[in-house]
Amino acid sequence: MLVRYAFIETYKTPFYCNNFSSHSTMSIYQATTSAPVNIACIKYWGKRNESLILPTNSSLSVTLSQDNLRSTTTARADPSFAADCLWLNGKVDPIKPGGRLHTCISEMKRLRTAFEAANPDQPKIASFNVHICSFNNFPTAAGLASSASGFAALVYALAKLYALPQTPEELSLIARRGSGSACRSLFGGFVAWDMGSDDVTGLDSKARQVASESHWPEMEALICVVNDAKKGTSSTSGMQRTVVTSALLQHRIGYVVPSRMADIESAIADKRFGDFAEITMRDSNQFHAVALDTYPPIFYMNDVSRAIIAIITEYNRLSDQPKAAYTYDAGPNAVIYALTPNVREIAQLVLYYFPQAEKVIIGGQEVEAALPEGFNE
Ligand code: DP6
Repeated sequence: MLVRYAFIETYKTPFYCNNFSSHSTMSIYQATTSAPVNIACIKYWGKRNESLILPTNSSLSVTLSQDNLRSTTTARADPSFAADCLWLNGKVDPIKPGGRLHTCISEMKRLRTAFEAANPDQPKIASFNVHICSFNNFPTAAGLASSASGFAALVYALAKLYALPQTPEELSLIARRGSGSACRSLFGGFVAWDMGSDDVTGLDSKARQVASESHWPEMEALICVVNDAKKGTSSTSGMQRTVVTSALLQHRIGYVVPSRMADIESAIADKRFGDFAEITMRDSNQFHAVALDTYPPIFYMNDVSRAIIAIITEYNRLSDQPKAAYTYDAGPNAVIYALTPNVREIAQLVLYYFPQAEKVIIGGQEVEAALPEGFNE
């Protein structure tokens, strides 16, 4: 169910319609695109440069290809618009001067200006204001990385609107300025964000596809929405506090993440699920340990999150190699990675402990609660 390339529904731009008053034609410059959420296996947590959004460590995620975990964004440029304007889920989201939205929109206009200079036959639309409309079809800010899909969709919609030649890797530099994790949602499959070393331009801090969506089609994600309320401490402010106060973060970025990045890339390349799972769970654990080591401490998981960890740990004890990998972002919801043949058993197990959960359908059939053989309650 995972890893399919991210973007759908792109309209051709520009298309033409009648101008009713004069019977002449007028151009409408508009594009729609959508981008999915991504869930990190190696977590990004900490910035070394706040304005360029340069991270203190590299990270790696899986892009979820499902239709029900997406941001869909329409961008339109028109000379009659008095200002740039953005609506998120139907409500105006102010574009503050110098803020992240403003930066992303200005950077995209800068690319269009350069494109028009190099292609004089192209319409001059870089100076028009834009209206942008974005919808998430899942709870915003519930630890399901809505800013990641949101900024990826915004950048990609503007790239389509402006017919830009830039690659997803180049566009990831701009999505990163909206929200760090957004740079990874410009690719499907398994995606690394290399932290880079150029602190002046940040031009080497970008996303890279490690393996495509078709590389490991048996990989699935079971998302357990524990709570879809808006989270308490935002990622941005949480990681700022961590960088200033946590000694454990220094150990993590200096000694742990570099080898983990290499190890998980090799586990993905060879499709070694056991290694992939162990690295993913260890990295989630360390990210939440770093949150706890922050002063004052930050708690993203709750009792239900910890119960799911205990259940998956006991489940993994039943086989030589882990068959399930939990991971938690800045919220209490669990994402459990597993291979297709094991997903039903894991869903049965989760439903056994949480019978109040909504029904899970696999292969057209409702999953019944059950315990695997040998499982110690
Ligand atoms: C825990 O990308 O939301 O999900 O760059 O400040 O917008 P900003 O932070 P954001 O942080 C995501 C943190 C994380 C881990 C991850 O996705 O790698």
